[in-house]
Amino acid sequence: MSYVEPPPDPKGNKKKTAADFVRVRIDAGEQRQIVIQKAQIRDVEEILELVNGFAASNLMLPRGPQYLYENIRDFVIASDRNVPVYSLIKTREVLHMLVACGSLHVLWEDIAEIRALAIHPDYHHLGLGSKLVEHMKDEARHLGVKRLFTFTMTEAFFKNLGFKRQSRDELPPKVWGECSRCPKYFHCDEVGMVLEI
Ligand SMILES: CC(C)(COP(=O)(O)OP(=O)(O)OC[C@H]1O[C@@H](n2cnc3c(N)ncnc32)[C@H](O)[C@@H]1OP(=O)(O)O)[C@@H](O)C(=O)NCCC(=O)NCCS
Repeated sequence: MSYVEPPPDPKGNKKKTAADFVRVRIDAGEQRQIVIQKAQIRDVEEILELVNGFAASNLMLPRGPQYLYENIRDFVIASDRNVPVYSLIKTREVLHMLVACGSLHVLWEDIAEIRALAIHPDYHHLGLGSKLVEHMKDEARHLGVKRLFTFTMTEAFFKNLGFKRQSRDELPPKVWGECSRCPKYFHCDEVGMVLEI
């Protein structure tokens, strides 16, 4: 199941918006130590916060916990080593703030989709989005996939990475699989873009 609205907050809290992101102050010239790695179960909550923060502003599709757990192996995350979040006393592990995520979902033998690409607002224009796409491109090559596909509202970002817009008639049927469950089904404002890798 996918493209499912997150379940309503049982406490009735208002829906999160992009303006509600936890802000991070990055001083000019400050070196950030950003680590990109595969996501783990413990990252699910933060991924949902990030993706649904943007979804609330209609910049991307909302995701629910079931989608995240079922597809967690698709996800890659970036965390900022300069921002420890909390330590787990039992494991003495220090976790760091999750600042970006993206996922690579294989659709068929020759095509995979980039989904849920989101960078925390305080980390935009640092090249992080491009790095995550490169990371997923390497993963796709490793899997033997020949083409990357995405539905997006930020055409210019993907164009900058070599993706080309494709008309709806040119898109392979496999990419429409999730559309029937998408809340934007009757008023889709996304464009399909493809990159041969
Ligand atoms: C779109 C997004 C992923 C870009 O991430 P980012 O880390 O800021 O991107 P990069 O720094 O790698 O950008 C590289 C270039 O892409 C282009 N670009 C980046 N964001 C853009 C945007 N929102 N619109 C148009 N072009 C953009 C610029 O040319 C940029 O170069 P510059 O920083 O020198 O101007 C990020 O803004 C985001 O998470 N947005 C909200 C969610 C979203 O729209 N996701 C897209 C998939 S649905």
